[in-house]
Amino acid sequence: MNKLTIVIPSGRLKKQCIDLLDISQELDKCSSRKLMWSTNKYKIIQAKPVDVPIYVEKGIADCGFVGKDILMESKFNVYELLDCDIGHCHLAIAQTKEKRKIKVIASKYQNITKKYCADNNIHAEVIKLNGSVELAPILGLADAILDIVSTGNTLRANDLIETKRVADISVRLIANVSSYQTKRNLIIDLINSLKEKKDAKAL
Ligand code: PRP
Repeated sequence: MNKLTIVIPSGRLKKQCIDLLDISQELDKCSSRKLMWSTNKYKIIQAKPVDVPIYVEKGIADCGFVGKDILMESKFNVYELLDCDIGHCHLAIAQTKEKRKIKVIASKYQNITKKYCADNNIHAEVIKLNGSVELAPILGLADAILDIVSTGNTLRANDLIETKRVADISVRLIANVSSYQTKRNLIIDLINSLKEKKDAKAL
């Protein structure tokens, strides 16, 4: 049988994607360090969240699960097919309580940050960091950060306050442009099964 190859993100979204695909029992037997598996219906690849779209764009995978933040930050030639209703969080600006004038802003999301500054008439230097972004305003590297907020615990733990909500984020199903033609029936089946899961959750 022709199977769909699906790339799922490692880390905090992995389990939710596995549950959405209904493959947790088939994966229980696999080593947690394994990066590729085959199930009855799918071939599964596990990649870093930020790398999911490139596997789909280049046709290594037919479909993938990726956060909207990653799709907003970089342009990929893929189809965005469904909001999977998991991984809800938001992008926000956060600052120390003093709310210094924003002359320098740090983020993992350089492009989103530059766009935010341009849209809001903020003339600031944008510093790219790769993680632990909350350190930047505390240590004086930046006056503000633009980062993901989920529970808000990291901001609270570091005495930062959210000063502006920038965008709501959730996980999206994306597809390779050619696969969407050549494996359309399988992709439609996948979309339908994900929608059923969404509806069941909403009840
Ligand atoms: C993300 C994000 C925040 C934190 C927000 O970081 O960059 O730091 O999660 O989550 P919370 O609101 O539930 O506290 P991640 O854990 O991915 O690590 P990183 O800082 O190394 O990117």
